Amino acid sequence: MNDTKPHHLFEAARDAMGKAHAPYSRFPVGAAILDSDGRVHSGANIEVISFPEGWCAETTAIGHMIMGGGKRIAEVAVIAEKLDLCSPCGGCRQRLAEFSDPGTLIHLCDAEGVKKTVRMDELLPLAFQTETIG
Ligand code: THU
Repeated sequence: MNDTKPHHLFEAARDAMGKAHAPYSRFPVGAAILDSDGRVHSGANIEVISFPEGWCAETTAIGHMIMGGGKRIAEVAVIAEKLDLCSPCGGCRQRLAEFSDPGTLIHLCDAEGVKKTVRMDELLPLAFQTETIG
């Protein structure tokens, strides 16, 4: 991948993965978000001994984006140490979609860099959307 932005995001996701707290699954994951203002927010998965209470790397990164004043997701990179290609889980797809556009790019990485890039609407087709709530 020649584009510098995905490369930059890959490195941020890989660095974040190094901070994973995953003693139960031993499956570290890292994610990095480029927000619509050009800033990068990263996150790792954080597990809890009461297993369902842990959460994913993408969720940590979204929390950092929102608390850092970011509004929209421009691009995302995700990496898992033990997978060639870590595709975000179902819950994280919905969370990413909340702050993304249909064309937002999600870069799935391996140890070398970006391996595959997909659009948000490919990752979550027929996403739940309604204007009747709230
Ligand atoms: N995990 C993520 O961080 N992101 C995903 O999209 C898939 C799964 C984490 C959750 C858990 O800590 C570990 O990977 C094993 O499922």
